[in-house]
Amino acid sequence: MKKIIDIVINNMREDYISEVVDLSDREFGTGYISRKDVMNSINYSKHTLKVAILNQEVIGFYLGWVVEKNNIPSKLNIPSNLLPLEFKETKQIAVLKSIVVSEKFQGLGVGSKLIKSCIDDFYDKGIQTISTVAWKSKMGINIEGPISRLNFKPVLEIKDYWKDVSKNYSCPECKTPPCRCSAVIYVTKKL
Ligand SMILES: CC(C)(COP(=O)(O)OP(=O)(O)OC[C@H]1O[C@@H](n2cnc3c(N)ncnc32)[C@H](O)[C@@H]1OP(=O)(O)O)[C@@H](O)C(=O)NCCC(=O)NCCS
Repeated sequence: MKKIIDIVINNMREDYISEVVDLSDREFGTGYISRKDVMNSINYSKHTLKVAILNQEVIGFYLGWVVEKNNIPSKLNIPSNLLPLEFKETKQIAVLKSIVVSEKFQGLGVGSKLIKSCIDDFYDKGIQTISTVAWKSKMGINIEGPISRLNFKPVLEIKDYWKDVSKNYSCPECKTPPCRCSAVIYVTKKL
């Protein structure tokens, strides 16, 4: 049977900032998530960042945003003409923007618990539509298993999604910029 570890999920605090940025640098590439992005999650109510704690160490986190309908194309970097129907029918959506688990704790259920916590938080806030931008590299979609089990469905694939922003960081799969990975936009809705 698959091994599962017990974690505590906490709200973001200033004393976690360095661990969160270090973890993001290691798994996504240095500079992908900045200290400012992390600070925004403490100071700005539309951003949520929660951490997975094991033995007082940050071993994972998710970053989510609440996005008003008019801002979806710019915040999700989706051309307006490709906007999936699911986003046209709602006033605002929540976006699971980034999720990461420290390499030595991957495959132990931490990511699935973080995603479940993210969904519960957004549904509690009354948001009915949740989207995520899944990273699709040459290796496939790392997060596919956990999000599919939590009822997310793919609605759109965008090639070279990080090509422009990747001038500022190195994708762990593509190494030298630009990043040529795709994003697959997934959506789930409260039943
Ligand atoms: C993707 C990620 C968040 C999943 O977290 P996790 O704690 O390993 O996930 P869980 O243990 O809950 O679920 C394991 C699933 O993740 C997949 N997985 C992805 N990378 C894995 C790894 N290095 N080790 C083990 N499982 C991995 C497995 O295929 C498994 O799917 P399955 O249950 O259908 O077999 C984590 O592997 C990670 O941080 N990867 C690097 C960053 C990344 O890709 N983030 C997602 C961007 S959209």
